[in-house]
Amino acid sequence: LSPESQNILSAYEWVTKLYHHLLRYTKDGKAGYQYFLDRGITDETIDVFQLGFAPNIKDFTAEFLKKKGFHQQILVKAGLLSMQEDNSVTDRFRGRVIFPIRNHLGKPIGFGGRTITDQEPKYLNSSESELFQKGRILYNFDQAKKHIRKQSEAVLFEGYMDVISAHQAGVKNGIATLGTSLTENQAKLLHRYVDTVIICYDADRAGLDATYKAAGALQKAGCHVKIANLREGMDPDSFIHQFGAEAFKDEVIKASHTFTSFYMQYVKKDFNLSLEADRIQYIEKVIEQLALIDSSVEREYYLKELSNEFDVSMESLNQEIQSQRENIS
Ligand code: UTP
Ligand code: MN
Ligand code: MN
Ligand code: MN
Ligand code: MN
Repeated sequence: LSPESQNILSAYEWVTKLYHHLLRYTKDGKAGYQYFLDRGITDETIDVFQLGFAPNIKDFTAEFLKKKGFHQQILVKAGLLSMQEDNSVTDRFRGRVIFPIRNHLGKPIGFGGRTITDQEPKYLNSSESELFQKGRILYNFDQAKKHIRKQSEAVLFEGYMDVISAHQAGVKNGIATLGTSLTENQAKLLHRYVDTVIICYDADRAGLDATYKAAGALQKAGCHVKIANLREGMDPDSFIHQFGAEAFKDEVIKASHTFTSFYMQYVKKDFNLSLEADRIQYIEKVIEQLALIDSSVEREYYLKELSNEFDVSMESLNQEIQSQRENIS
């Protein structure tokens, strides 16, 4: 690590402690504390994730770090301070609740900061640096990895709040990307620890598309993928808030779907199934995917579903899949 990165690491360590302390114990952090309370987050959870609050004061952090001997230039580079047009600096995360992002050794290397007053953007992240690369880090991996190993399963979420709420609900093997799609690097990292990954993204259009992409990346890295059973319009955090921990574990995580079953629903978006020609194309597209499955029992299972849904004989579906499989091998 370069001396500059060492310095940045040290700054993040100080500021993580500062923001967390402010939130937990002071008047300056009260608004942030109240925000998490309102979202059902307990003191214990706040401590586990070192959640914090950056006071809405222009130079609070700048002054604090100056007294500790840090140079302004480094702090701008670290993404803790922002340079204004008139060359003055202000606290980058002021007025936001803070989600420290730790590397796999447990050291904070960046922040996600959420507005508590509907400002844009909703989440602001530290800028990328040698130390902080979003495509190489998974939120909460440092704490989740022992649970991931023990349970032989990881749960991949979309947002910080999903990981945190799930943890509080007893699902401690959760991790998340940092607002970007899952990279090959992250997929490989996961596969070093686990074979099965449950994707539990938001059940909206963007979340479904991201699920399909992440599943591809994970399968390419050698992971077996399952898809959580979240009802439309919800995200994991809002589900837990509304229906509770037990429902989340039983109805969402344990009731995960196979990738194939997800795929059969997902690709329907590309077809107008009230049209005959589209129905046929859809069936062919699904069979292409089913032809990749090695287990004949599993293939038969989904073929039956197709057969029932579209009133096509098993015989013709079987014929089609056989010829597809011969093409593959
Ligand atoms: P979501 O929009 O699903 O937010 O973004 P959320 O996590 O459910 O947020 P809450 O519940 O309203 O607090 C998912 C993730 O995408 C990234 C963040 O990492 C967020 O957790 N994101 C989102 C950004 O980086 N910037 C944004 O403006 C919004
Ligand atoms: Mn493997
Ligand atoms: Mn979302
Ligand atoms: Mn969400
Ligand atoms: Mn949410």
